[in-house]
Amino acid sequence: MEDLLSKRRERAAAAWALREELVLIGSGPVIGVPGGADQTYPFLAHVEYLWLAGHEVADAVLAFDPRDGWTDFIPPVTQAERVWEGRTDAPGTPLHELGGWLAARRGRPVVTLGAAIPGIAGDGIRAAALREQLMHLRRPKDSHELALVRKACEATAQGFRALVQALKAGASERELQVELETAFLRGGADRTGYGTIVGIGSHAGVLHFSPGDRRAQSGDVVLVDAGAEVSRYTADVTRTYRLPGGDDGFFRALHAIVLRVEQNAISRCRPGAEWRDLHLAAAHEIAEGLVSLGLLVGSAESLVERDTHALFFPHGLGHMVGLGVRDASGYLPGRARSTRPGLSMLRTDLPLEPGYLMTVEPGVYFIPALLQDASLRERHRDAVRWDRVDALMEFGGVRIEDDILVTESDPDVLTASIP
Ligand code: GLY
Ligand code: MN
Ligand code: MN
Repeated sequence: MEDLLSKRRERAAAAWALREELVLIGSGPVIGVPGGADQTYPFLAHVEYLWLAGHEVADAVLAFDPRDGWTDFIPPVTQAERVWEGRTDAPGTPLHELGGWLAARRGRPVVTLGAAIPGIAGDGIRAAALREQLMHLRRPKDSHELALVRKACEATAQGFRALVQALKAGASERELQVELETAFLRGGADRTGYGTIVGIGSHAGVLHFSPGDRRAQSGDVVLVDAGAEVSRYTADVTRTYRLPGGDDGFFRALHAIVLRVEQNAISRCRPGAEWRDLHLAAAHEIAEGLVSLGLLVGSAESLVERDTHALFFPHGLGHMVGLGVRDASGYLPGRARSTRPGLSMLRTDLPLEPGYLMTVEPGVYFIPALLQDASLRERHRDAVRWDRVDALMEFGGVRIEDDILVTESDPDVLTASIP
């Protein structure tokens, strides 16, 4: 880890190529729950600090002077923290020496990254430029990061195996969440990387649904999107199931289409491939699939050009994942977000490189908020078989999501073992 940290810091220093400027990277404060009661939110150090400092200490500042390197300023542990939380000293330089460090460099410009540092402003425009360079360095995952991601994927697989056992008529969304997350923790997770989504029936069509007390009935669609987190590295996985009972023909056909779109997109996760092109290819295949199901009319080209597919696939193909569920996603400098409905939700627009960890997560949903919107219905009047779509408003949706490591050769699906 020490070697890796030195390498990360060397790469950051080389990318920034600073002469005069000083960089201060804040870890962030512990945030109290409003109303007090001695409760705080879990402390999660800012990812920029964590990646360069290698540990999570609140209110710490990692300082960089291109002339004499890195200093990790750490606040002293108070007596109360030793007594109540059992905290011990972290390695570093006492935080009260930061003032002297800055005074010895008076007059030199300061750029702050990470979380805000009380009393220090820094140059915002330069911060954006340095952050962009740092984000680009963080995109390919190093061996330490990949080991943690693989552990997170293994714990996630254990969770989904437990979930499948519990997936029976009568089980509630909350009960399924409990089974899944318990197995995550048993499998080595510290926590979940984001709020678990379990949506039964029409809830499967709510993109970020929070599990509630709805119970599964025979024939229901159940969408589960969850990831175990290990030392801040998370998986992000979705599976969509259907309980036995009734006519499953439409579900099977739609699931097969989404799975094929996913597999095709995964096979395209290769160095040099433009993420936007992968997204558009998936959109094209989804439009074709919806035509084959008799829900859309017209050619896939014209449907994607008109963004008709986005009525059913209203999000991007995926995003970067790892150190958080939206790790270092973003656009290559100079690229702007499109305003087109079919592209505006793209979280990432850049060419893939070896070491990038991407989610691939196509989905098709029947979302009343979109499909019952009068102006959207008018705009796509002749492209949609509205009578058939209206009959599916309670269906929910199907999403399939895996985590893919881009390599020099074939893409490595880290979550392939998940049922
Ligand atoms: N879990 C949110 C997502 O798939 O991006
Ligand atoms: Mn997800
Ligand atoms: Mn995702």
